[in-house]
Amino acid sequence: MTARRLLLLALLPLGACTPDRAREETAARLTRGGNPETGKALIRQYGCGSCHVIPGIPGATGGVGPALDRLRQQPYVAGVTLNTPDHLMRWVQDPQAVDSLTAMPDLDVSQRDARHIVAYLYAAGR
Ligand code: HEC
Repeated sequence: MTARRLLLLALLPLGACTPDRAREETAARLTRGGNPETGKALIRQYGCGSCHVIPGIPGATGGVGPALDRLRQQPYVAGVTLNTPDHLMRWVQDPQAVDSLTAMPDLDVSQRDARHIVAYLYAAGR
């Protein structure tokens, strides 16, 4: 094996990590300080996965609500409001305030927690 190929192999794992870190940084910026890692723990704590499939969250296989696997791409939140960081945080904190007919319950998520949760949702998935 040539030295150059060895070097490439050594760099591969680094390359594999870069997109994730870039996504996390983007998500932190979009949410003005949300931390995806903290959000991940909070998503488990609030039990969002009992109703949603959420990438990267063990046991998050619920089918009551839609899969939360492409929030970076989709144009609307719950089909009713434009997908902006503020709208998404508002949804997570108080879904009925956004759509009074929604089946998603108000889980008493604080503003601070919603920021971290949304940072995770923007960083995860496709
Ligand atoms: C009891 C079931 C339930 C729980 C628990 C729940 N959700 Fe939901 N969620 C729903 C349902 C049902 C919808 C679809 C709402 C609609 O379209 O009106 C939804 C929609 C959403 C959406 C919009 C998805 C989209 O594709 O636009 C997001 C984001 C979301 N939930 C995040 C969360 C987060 C974060 C938690 C935990 C803090 C959570 N949900 C907990 C039932 C739940």
